[in-house]
This record gives sequence, C-alpha cells and structure tokens, in this order.
Amino acid sequence: MQRPSTIATWNRNPADEEAMGAAHAPIWRRMIDVSVPHDLHDSTILDYGCNQGGFLRMLYDRNPFRGAVGIDIARESVARADLLKGHRPIEYKVGDKAAALNRTFDFAFSHEVLYLLPDLAQHAADMKTALRPGGAYVAAMGCHTDSAVWSRWRTVIVESSSIPIYDHSLDAVAKAFSAAGFTVAVRPLDLDAFMPVTVGSAYFPKVVDQLRYYSQDKVLFRFVRSP
Ligand SMILES: C[S@@+](CC[C@H](N)C(=O)[O-])C[C@H]1O[C@@H](n2cnc3c(N)ncnc32)[C@H](O)[C@@H]1O
Repeated sequence: MQRPSTIATWNRNPADEEAMGAAHAPIWRRMIDVSVPHDLHDSTILDYGCNQGGFLRMLYDRNPFRGAVGIDIARESVARADLLKGHRPIEYKVGDKAAALNRTFDFAFSHEVLYLLPDLAQHAADMKTALRPGGAYVAAMGCHTDSAVWSRWRTVIVESSSIPIYDHSLDAVAKAFSAAGFTVAVRPLDLDAFMPVTVGSAYFPKVVDQLRYYSQDKVLFRFVRSP
C-alpha cells in the first residue's frame, strides 16, 4: 500500500474514528499524570498525530498551557478537532512534518503514532527541529514487536488503518532517538484505571492479555533534546 501524504480519516470506518477518543481518554489521563508534573502556563505543546484533538483538550483542561498545535494527516479528523477546541489556545493543522510549523515547542506528545511511521530516524530528526534544546517529547507506544499481542494486533489493525503499519521494536525506537541526539528514557504506562472488558475481543482474547498490555507492554518513551 502506498503511503498518501494526507487521508480523510485514519480508521477506514468513520464511526470507529469517532469512538477512538473516548477509548483513549483513560490512557491520555495517565500520560498526563505521569509526564506533566509541572505548571504549563508558560509552555507550548505539540501533539503529533492528534486525530480529533482530544489529548490537547484534556491537557489544557487539566493543566492549562500558553499555546499548542496538533498535527495529523487525517483531514476530516483535524477539521473535527478544530470544531471541538472551543476557547482553548490550540491550532490544529493537516500535515506530517513538525518542522514545517516553523516554530519550537517546550513539550511534544504522541500517542500510538510511531508504528505508523516508516522512518524513525526521519521522525526523530523532525521532532528535534520542533523542540527547543532541553525540550521533551513523550511518545506512548503499545504497537511494537516486543508486545506479546503484536502479531495478533497487526492483523486486526491492518484491516482498519487507511495507511500501512510498521514493525518497530522498542530498541529500534530508542536507537533512532539516541542517534538523533536525544536522551532516551522509558517506563511502562502502568495504567491505573478500570478498563472495560469486551468478551470475545479481537485485541485481548484473554483478560490476562489486557492486564499485561496495560501494565507492561504499553510504554511511554521520553526523549529529551540535548541542550
Ligand atoms: C492510532 S491513531 C492515534 C490518534 C491519537 N493520537 C489518539 O490518541 O487518539 C494514529 C494517528 O496518527 C496519524 N498519523 C499517521 N501517520 C502520521 C504522520 N506521518 N503524520 C501525522 N499524523 C500521522 C493518523 O492519521 C491517526 O490520526
């Protein structure tokens, strides 16, 4: 499958795209709780692969920031994000290059986007350009080859994703960002929430798969740009 520069929605089924934000909300909450201990009033934020923009809305409502940009290649999702942003100081833009925004950010985030990128070195270089020296990029990743459920997931996700997916290991991600001049750290997401159990789920055939995924397989990388 060719990788188009923009798409209408990431999920081939617009109803599933619409439902994604609610499903991801407990994860965004955890990302924020464990990676944003400081006041953000003077900070600028980038969300790479923002989809309908829910992460930045949640972040602003919990921890107000000076300004933020969300970028995504999914045109209809970005348009929806723009409609939903209300009074918040957020811009949503269609695009895949953080550097093309021609500004630098104090913090950047992405949630489940790295496995959709063919070239991790290129992404690391792009994010380096968009972060100020000392700035941090927190990337959440459960879709990787070291996850116990990945071989099952890649078959399920290929059916719904309108773009190709890639088999990156956690080590490949760490290597790409380290080579680009970031200090790399990692922790389990270690979700502290009750997550709904769907009997017969294609993602989690057994309850123990779900427990292990959210406590161990799904990780948060923190890449700090060297000063
Ligand atoms: C699995 S979804 C996650 C969306 C969102 N971060 C969330 O937590 O709900 C992945 C998103 O990454 C976007 N994406 C994929 N490749 C991209 C690229 N090269 N540049 C920007 N966004 C991209 C997709 O369009 C999709 O919205």
